[in-house]
Amino acid sequence: MICSVKQSVITPTINGSDTIFRRKNPSAIQRSLILPSLNGNKSSKPVLSMSKPLHVSKVESFALSKPQKRSLITCNAYEADRSEPIEAPEVKSEAAKKVKIGIYFAVWWALNVVFNIYNKKVLNAFPYPWLTSTLSLACGSLMMFISWATRIAETPKTDFEFWKTLFPVAVAHTIGHVAATVSMSKVAVSFTHIIKSGEPAFSVLVSRFILGETFPSSVYLSLVPIIGGCALAAVTELNFNMIGFMGAMISNLAFVFRNIFSKKGMKGKSVSGMNYYACLSMLSLLILTPFAIAVEGPQMWAAGWQTALSEIGPNFVWWIAAQSVFYHLYNQVSYMSLDEISPLTFSIGNTMKRISVIVSSIIIFHTPVQPVNALGAAIAVLGTFLYSQAKQ
Ligand code: 3PG
Repeated sequence: MICSVKQSVITPTINGSDTIFRRKNPSAIQRSLILPSLNGNKSSKPVLSMSKPLHVSKVESFALSKPQKRSLITCNAYEADRSEPIEAPEVKSEAAKKVKIGIYFAVWWALNVVFNIYNKKVLNAFPYPWLTSTLSLACGSLMMFISWATRIAETPKTDFEFWKTLFPVAVAHTIGHVAATVSMSKVAVSFTHIIKSGEPAFSVLVSRFILGETFPSSVYLSLVPIIGGCALAAVTELNFNMIGFMGAMISNLAFVFRNIFSKKGMKGKSVSGMNYYACLSMLSLLILTPFAIAVEGPQMWAAGWQTALSEIGPNFVWWIAAQSVFYHLYNQVSYMSLDEISPLTFSIGNTMKRISVIVSSIIIFHTPVQPVNALGAAIAVLGTFLYSQAKQ
């Protein structure tokens, strides 16, 4: 039996088998009873009588220092012989939400791992990151156009103002995306993601020096392992390449601005996470295409395509399709999960995602890793966890 005990008594004594649990979820209350006394005060008339000991799971307010004040004590209690309270409907919906978020996270990481693997396979055979980045955005845009046309997804209602506020987000997204892909075309996937785990450091520096925000000293301290770990991993990376390193750094910076602009642009907007990302892809595609043609161009692509096809065979086309489809899907799921969770939970999820990508890509591509290099990566990832905690 779960009960909630509201008491006006000032100095309650909780004896015997009573155990105080600090439950995080106050919605575990099922019934409310008014209990004048828990300390055997005979002058009060108890309205609650129980044959089983109560385990008090939460005490919201003990007004011990002000005995004269008639404050209410709210306790969530449940029977001693139950390890868990009986679930109220809100608890169930809370649990269902957690399961839903867990599924989002698992799908997001799995799609991301698959994307990174196919992306690297494609880049090894066809080192034209500007085209592969463009194809990822084109594929996602096409998928969403089809979803809207066939009414699989609801078409978003947007106006000029929406696209105007989306523009800076799309510019930052385009730069971050192409820079990360250029990075991965030059260095191991794991190295790109180790450097990308330093994104919180960029976030704090940009917020501090450009936006003038201040943070508690614990946040600044958490940057020490992030920066130190990334630096250690970079100097001990066996296949270090400056373009690869700078690509990941530029991607970090661009994504920090993308997040800042998204936050400003999305205030009060009613476009869902999925459609927001669809619109972002389309605008990014428009921005990136002319640059991709200018930097690489059809002649290079045609020659590279022939070489890749002759080396890999028809599977190469499937690899391109897989990296493009999975790029869109993982981003779409991550934006959908942003609808459900706080930015903080999101950033923890993103760090966990990097661990899965780093570990799986090292295994799949047999990336040589020195112990000191792995130590640098571990310190950097640990730093991002500390950062998440310090930001709370
Ligand atoms: C990209 O190509 O956009 C990057 O791989 C994105 O990396 P992230 O989503 O893991 O930050």
